[in-house]
Amino acid sequence: MIVTIDGVAASGKSSVSSGVARALGVPYVSSGLLYRAATLLAHEAGLSPHDPALVPHLEAQPLRFEPLAGGNRLWLGTRELTADVQSAAVDAGVSAVAARPELRAWVDRRLRALTPPFVAEGRDMGTAVFPHAQAKFYLTASARVRAGRRAAERPEAVDEIEAALILRDERDRAQSVPAPEAHVIDTGPLSLQGVIDTILAALPQGAAPA
Ligand code: DC
Repeated sequence: MIVTIDGVAASGKSSVSSGVARALGVPYVSSGLLYRAATLLAHEAGLSPHDPALVPHLEAQPLRFEPLAGGNRLWLGTRELTADVQSAAVDAGVSAVAARPELRAWVDRRLRALTPPFVAEGRDMGTAVFPHAQAKFYLTASARVRAGRRAAERPEAVDEIEAALILRDERDRAQSVPAPEAHVIDTGPLSLQGVIDTILAALPQGAAPA
C-alpha cells in the first residue's frame, strides 16, 4: 500500500504524513528531504543546479536516507544532515534544484527503490512518482495561515515568511498540482489531528489502522 500526501509549502505535510504513518504503522517518506540534500551537497561542492556534474556527484556520495514513521533522517556517511538541510540557505536554493529534470529523476529513482507500504509526502507523489498509489491527498492553506504556523517555529517575522512562501509557491507551481483523484483538504480551519483523522477516515478499507 502507498498513500501519497502532496501539498503546498508549509501546509503541514510532514506532521500530517508522520501522524498518518504512525496510525497505520508504516514509515513515511519525505521527498522534499532528498531535494534538500541535493541542494546542500551542491552548495558544499560549489556546483550550480545546472551543472551536468551534479547528478554524478550525488550518485557518488554515501547518502543514506532513513524513512521512519516518526521523522526522516539523512546521513552522509557518519555525518547527520537532517538539521543542516532545513537551513534558510537551503530553503532559498531548493526550488532551483527541484526545477531541474535530471535532479527530479535522481529523487524519483531513489523513491521508487523503496519497498511499500509507506506514506509518501511531497509535491508530485500522487502524480509523477506513484501514479498508482491506493489513496491520494493534497493539502492546501492560505499563505497567511501557513506563515503563521512557520512563525511559531522560526525566528523570522510572519510577513517575511509569508512573502517567501508566496515566492516558493510560484516557483513550485509546475510540480505541485493535485492528482485529479486526490482528496483536497484545506487545512486552514483544522487542527493537525483533525487533518490526520480526515485522511484516516477517507482511506480505502484494508488500509485503515488495525
Ligand atoms: O517539502 P519541503 O519544503 O521540504 O520541500 C523542499 C522543496 O523541494 C520544495 O520547495 C519543493 C521541492 N519539492 C519538489 O519539487 N517535489 C517534491 N516531491 C518535494 C519537494
